[in-house]
Amino acid sequence: MNSRNVTVIGLQWGDEGKGKIVDAIARHCRYVVRFCGGANAGHTVRVGDERFAFHLIPCGILHDGVHNVIGNGVAFDPAVACEEIEGLRQRDVTVGSDNLHISSAANVVMGWHKLEDRLSESLLGKGKIGTTARGIGPCYADKATRTTAIRVGDLLDADVLREKVTRIAAVKKAVFAAMYSHRERLNIEEIVEEYAAYGGNLAEMVSNTGAMLRRAVADGERICFEGGQGSLLDIDHGTFPFVTSSSVTACGVPSGAGVPPKAVGRIVGIVKAYTSRVGAGPFPAEQDNATGEWLRERGHEYGTTTGRPRRCGWLDAVALRYAADLSGVDELALTLLDVPGGLADLRIATAYRVDGQVVDQFDPAAGALARAECVYEDLPGWQGEIADARRFNDLPDEARHYVERVEALLGRPVGVISVGPDREQTFAHHSKLKDLI
Ligand code: GDP
Ligand code: IMO
Ligand code: MG
Repeated sequence: MNSRNVTVIGLQWGDEGKGKIVDAIARHCRYVVRFCGGANAGHTVRVGDERFAFHLIPCGILHDGVHNVIGNGVAFDPAVACEEIEGLRQRDVTVGSDNLHISSAANVVMGWHKLEDRLSESLLGKGKIGTTARGIGPCYADKATRTTAIRVGDLLDADVLREKVTRIAAVKKAVFAAMYSHRERLNIEEIVEEYAAYGGNLAEMVSNTGAMLRRAVADGERICFEGGQGSLLDIDHGTFPFVTSSSVTACGVPSGAGVPPKAVGRIVGIVKAYTSRVGAGPFPAEQDNATGEWLRERGHEYGTTTGRPRRCGWLDAVALRYAADLSGVDELALTLLDVPGGLADLRIATAYRVDGQVVDQFDPAAGALARAECVYEDLPGWQGEIADARRFNDLPDEARHYVERVEALLGRPVGVISVGPDREQTFAHHSKLKDLI
């Protein structure tokens, strides 16, 4: 079975720098595949002075000869996809049926999903999740309901689309009125026209991507699976209910892309050198103070998708060990290592204290996580910028020590180090992917 493939996933609460690492690996791959999430993702790639923020389009799109695949597991918003494709074309990036493939089985985010997301959050008030309001949760809820879901393939047949929109809109109207006391007009003809137009625009790129990828696996082509979100936001294994609604760990790759489990290949867990989280939910190592503020400003920690300020805090080895074990991570990519530079000391959480007891296991289902206090290990910080480092030995002693502590605490090698947003600011360390980075 194919072992040349690479799966890139976030090990925290998202925004670990997945986009940058996928872009680096993509040029050596034949396929780059999104298998989870939707336009809630915001993956940044910097190329010289240009900055690309991808929401649905895989980060391989900037490389010639790479097939970019939006898998069946993605919550596909055709409005965002059309806008993103148009934006890329205006920047002279080629996007078409030669390099973008959208699964006909992906579930469609409809306008009513985005409305439902907003209504649900406002009804929850203080108990809200703090979603990206991209309609992700309601879209996946309809996928599970089945009879209220629309798939990409449905956009290509106006009769099927009209029948589904007519039937589902009636359900949605009733739900909006009953649950949220909200009356929504939902004009069937307008909706059918809008979504059929998206279907028309995208038709040449829609196909059975699962079959395409299984063929690629059989042919030994190299595939990179591009994770969205972060492991602690996983629907099953994250800090439920403050999570997203899809399977975002390496465990989500086979079902979200339509490939056998063995096709996930080498699993790279992306770790930001500190921690950030957007939206509500427990975050034991959060620094809701001057240090958190300092990290936010220095790391430009404002959401790529929503512009919201991200909550910032120290690295959390308890949560990271859990996430790395869950996906069977082979090597780590440590990103944004330049950001904590300048601090006198850095802290890493190595255990939690919960109700007087010290625990070193991360149990996302435990309500106690919200009361957990971190037990920290202090490490000396480094002064001066490290943005020009191009190999491990260019780093100051303290930064090297920090990397080594991460390796020891997570029991895995740091394969790749990133010291800035630019392509040149990435280098291989203990990576088995040396030919790729
Ligand atoms: P993703 O969602 O995991 O792809 O991450 P985002 O793109 O949402 O957020 C990561 C941010 O950090 C982006 O603005 C990147 O350009 C930037 N970035 C990535 N790697 C580094 C790094 O090593 N250092 C710094 N300073 N910024 C980085
Ligand atoms: P990338 O791929 C950071 C968070 C939201 C919210 C929760 C649920 O860029 O790392 P949703 O809209 O999915 O129902 O929101 O999940 N969230 C992310 N946080 N990065 C992301 O993606 C995220 N995608 C969802 O902030 O807390
Ligand atoms: Mg992001």
